[in-house]
Amino acid sequence: MKDYRATAPGKVILFGEHAVVYHQPAIAVPVTTVQAKVDLQATGENSGLRIIAPDLGRDYRLAEAEADDALALIIRLTLARFQQVESLQATLIVTSTIPLGRGLGSGAAISTAVVRALAQFYGQQITPAAISDLVYEVEKLYHGTPSGIDNTVIAYEQPVYFIRQQPIERLPVGRAFILVVGDTGQVSPTHKAVGHVRRQWQADPQRFESLFAEAGRIAATARTIIEQGGPGATLGALMNDNQAVLAAMGVSSPELDRLIEAARQAGAWGAKLSGAGWGGNMIALVEPETAPAVSDALLKAGATGCIITEVAPS
Ligand code: PMV
Repeated sequence: MKDYRATAPGKVILFGEHAVVYHQPAIAVPVTTVQAKVDLQATGENSGLRIIAPDLGRDYRLAEAEADDALALIIRLTLARFQQVESLQATLIVTSTIPLGRGLGSGAAISTAVVRALAQFYGQQITPAAISDLVYEVEKLYHGTPSGIDNTVIAYEQPVYFIRQQPIERLPVGRAFILVVGDTGQVSPTHKAVGHVRRQWQADPQRFESLFAEAGRIAATARTIIEQGGPGATLGALMNDNQAVLAAMGVSSPELDRLIEAARQAGAWGAKLSGAGWGGNMIALVEPETAPAVSDALLKAGATGCIITEVAPS
């Protein structure tokens, strides 16, 4: 029987998380050193679709899935889009090297890989925009009010300058740069952190709107520097400024602060949390020669994992 395989990368948000929910610009890039993979094998049996997710210890049938099951939802949405009414006789195996729930886009990457595998299976062409729209529906399960940045950067697999509900803008990268991504090992509760920011904004709209606007200005400045391949030290300083804004929003944590400080001490140009915060991952912008020292410093400071990744010119 034929095998259909698809992958999708992880992502990091470089600038503008949280403020992006309030229509400020943000920048995100794909991280291809980690991947979600989907393997779809047609079976001759008449027993519907079996879903196996070994990392999650799950093995079940589509027909038995709960209403809020993310895998079942993306499969059903995709089948509806392809107007497939016949039940699918196959086994779908999902694996991923993207740490779960740590702001690296594991959910959006798995959904994207599922859509791509099903598109191959049915011999359908599907655009990144259409994939992104389908994946956005599933993101709502996790986030409540997602900005759409995760599904966009992962479905397009390109750096993006993202403004909620605006047409996607690809972000050309003038010169390669290196990021070290350090994992606190703690799950980042996106839904809770986003809710916390919302409540604080409601309590003190003036203060929070100025924090969102400041994050937006930082992202807009960073965009120009990235496009022009400008100095790493300038971009790093903007990351530090963005971290200060995120800390003022109350979404950093002692573990994130410790890793961010360790990266700066080890010679990073700048460092900040990435994603919703309260755990998850932080990122540091480094010179190629400094990357190993920063990675060592992060592991010594308690990071449970470190990824060194290059954002290539485009
Ligand atoms: O999924 P995460 O942890 O990368 O968080 C997404 C970023 C937020 O701006 C906090 C939320 C959103 O919907 O954009």
